[in-house]
Amino acid sequence: QQAPLIDPFARPITYLRVSVTDRCDFRCTYCMAEHMQFLPKRDLLSLEELDRMCSSFIRLGVRKLRITGGEPLVRRNIMSFFRAVSRHLGDGLDELTLTTNGSQLARYADELAEIGVRRVNVSLDTLDAEKFAAITRWGRLPQVMDGIAAAKAAGLRVKINAVALKGFNEEELFPLVEWCAANDHDLTFIEVMPMGEMGEEDRLDQYWPLSDLRARLAERYTLIDLAERSGGPARYVRLSETGQKIGFITPLSHNFCESCNRVRVTCTGELFMCLGQEDRADLRAPLRAAPDDTLLEDAIREAIGRKPKGHDFDYSRQKVAGQMSRHMSHTGG
Ligand code: GTP
Ligand code: 5AD
Ligand code: SF4
Repeated sequence: QQAPLIDPFARPITYLRVSVTDRCDFRCTYCMAEHMQFLPKRDLLSLEELDRMCSSFIRLGVRKLRITGGEPLVRRNIMSFFRAVSRHLGDGLDELTLTTNGSQLARYADELAEIGVRRVNVSLDTLDAEKFAAITRWGRLPQVMDGIAAAKAAGLRVKINAVALKGFNEEELFPLVEWCAANDHDLTFIEVMPMGEMGEEDRLDQYWPLSDLRARLAERYTLIDLAERSGGPARYVRLSETGQKIGFITPLSHNFCESCNRVRVTCTGELFMCLGQEDRADLRAPLRAAPDDTLLEDAIREAIGRKPKGHDFDYSRQKVAGQMSRHMSHTGG
């Protein structure tokens, strides 16, 4: 164990998000363009390289690893990677988890549970099959429902992530809350972030502030604020009528940068120090330059040394500032 990673604002970096592919079997409109130019295979880190990278971060103090994409479970042979990194569980690593669209969960849930994954985050913005097909451009809701059921049956905890979109899923608020209560899923609502090439009008039109969503929830339920923050971006409430926990991720109306403990690596080995900033560091070159990890770990330390204070997404002005040209699928959310 080496000296832990501490950024210039005294934040310990203990959480790594790793995108293992830029591909996805869906094309959620707020995440990807319909026709995406995916990366050539030679640019991707191999599963062995991804494993080396994760192991280095763990040696440098990362205790939580979240695997993302694109859709992580569409990468070929992905379970061999999960299995490999799971060796760190209980030996440096506290949690290994993933964020998935659920389409392949029916196939992989048992194996994920078996290697020590305890919870999965599943993206699901609506329970209406037609709307689901529209927002994902062609996704099939029953396939995802089967995946979620399989995860539950395998003993995994499920957290549903719903992006709040004005004019799209406002009427889905109560159905989603009730369905999650009935099935004992956690639920988190997310404000849509200005990534990729959503037109400027679209983004403003679709922006549904969670303060408004929360007010609507409060018309029907008693909301109890929970202090717990889990180091993550979500703030939580408990609905006293159902006992369920609901999270709100509000990077736009309220950022959480001051307690940020995370960085992300893309499938090509770029380290992004902040989701909402363009600055990045190439880890693929040092990874490929030598079979040992000294250069890689130096590059990681150097990059953490310039983690910025926060992002500058902002919907509050007339114009949307801080639009990121990169797609969410590039950095994995
Ligand atoms: P845990 O806290 O580990 O349960 O997960 P999470 O909610 O952080 O992760 P998940 O992959 O489910 O992401 C949910 C949403 O949070 C996505 O829209 C992410 O883009 C967003 N998110 C995650 N980390 C950050 C961050 O550092 N900054 C911002 N602005 N958004 C983030
Ligand atoms: N704004 C907010 N959340 C997004 N996600 C994808 N694109 C966006 C966006 N533009 C969410 C997905 C998934 C998580 C990883 O990020 O719904 O739950
Ligand atoms: Fe795929 Fe998730 Fe992006 Fe939708 S949000 S296109 S499911 S990576």
